[in-house]
Amino acid sequence: MHDPAPAVADSVVTEAVTIELNRRSITVAYNDGETVLQTARMAGLQPPSSCEIGSCGTCMARLTEGCVQMLNNDALEADEVAEGWILTCQSLPTSRTIRVIYE
Ligand code: FES
Repeated sequence: MHDPAPAVADSVVTEAVTIELNRRSITVAYNDGETVLQTARMAGLQPPSSCEIGSCGTCMARLTEGCVQMLNNDALEADEVAEGWILTCQSLPTSRTIRVIYE
């Protein structure tokens, strides 16, 4: 018997997160387990936020490169998610790099 394949591929390590806010673009190293919102704050930015539980949509931004996993989403419609909108307070990067724009 072979061991079953792991349900989640753990070979992808996020290395860098690029965030655009107020026409400023900054790329920072990613610390495992941090949300995009926390990463933006660690980078010295002051991104918009409010509830931080995925309900209000204040922290939404557009993902233009890479992938994230949203832990909770009670704010965005399916078509908004399809267009690349994410709730940064609930998003964990799942690709080597990501780029997020607060618009
Ligand atoms: S701060 Fe409310 S959904 Fe992220």
